[in-house]
Amino acid sequence: MVAVLAAVLTTDVRPVEAGLNRTPVVGGVVAPQGKFPWAVRLSMGCGGALTEPRVVLTAGHCVDDTGRNDSIEVTAGVSDLRSSRAQTARSERVIRAEGFVDEVHGDDWAVIRLDRPLRLPTLPLAQDAIGPGRYIVMGWGQTREDSVEQEQRLHYATVPSVPDEKCEAAYVKAGVTLVRDEQMCAGSPGVDTCQGDSGGPMIGRGRHGEWVQVGIVSWGLGCARDGYPGVYTQLSTFRPAIEKAVRKLRN
Ligand code: ARG
Repeated sequence: MVAVLAAVLTTDVRPVEAGLNRTPVVGGVVAPQGKFPWAVRLSMGCGGALTEPRVVLTAGHCVDDTGRNDSIEVTAGVSDLRSSRAQTARSERVIRAEGFVDEVHGDDWAVIRLDRPLRLPTLPLAQDAIGPGRYIVMGWGQTREDSVEQEQRLHYATVPSVPDEKCEAAYVKAGVTLVRDEQMCAGSPGVDTCQGDSGGPMIGRGRHGEWVQVGIVSWGLGCARDGYPGVYTQLSTFRPAIEKAVRKLRN
């Protein structure tokens, strides 16, 4: 009870309910049409989420740079990319995190202004850092590390968060240092995001049970390997910077 209360007082973002389907994404299941209406597919082979009707949040490593950009096609509003219900838009402008070098060094976020607003629900950014628990990740990426195919339908999986110390210890062996304030880890053996899921949202539940975005698919060593969880951009760290960039894209 004390723990529950503490969680309520210190954060307004909660993990998703336990016991959701385990089967990604590696180890996931197909998302029914309409379940994650703000999830979008980007033509360079990444995912994203509609933060505003005219703004997509994705990973920094999915885009080239900050500036005018009309090269990205956005498919939205569908689980099945070939569905006739798909809405499409094109990028106009991109703002990538200042200081972005590559995904392992953090700062892995970017926002994209679309050439028109999409008539779809948007996904709010979580206000606070996440607590331990299970979160949902999704994408149209590979369902196996050695697959060469992307998926036609959106897949999702429920992944447990992994403490920074544990994740850092794993990746140090691989020669990579976790940027603790900017990255967080999640996944279990057999369940993870994978190539092509980058940029897509990790979500939890907000104060009123609504979905909120807590992370962005960023990188990992292979996919779903035992001992190597997926690494996600820690949205709570970047929320002020992302909101500022979104405001800039409005003009
Ligand atoms: N960097 C990958 C992409 O561009 C995402 C990899 C996520 N990997 C993982 N094991 N969680 O699609």
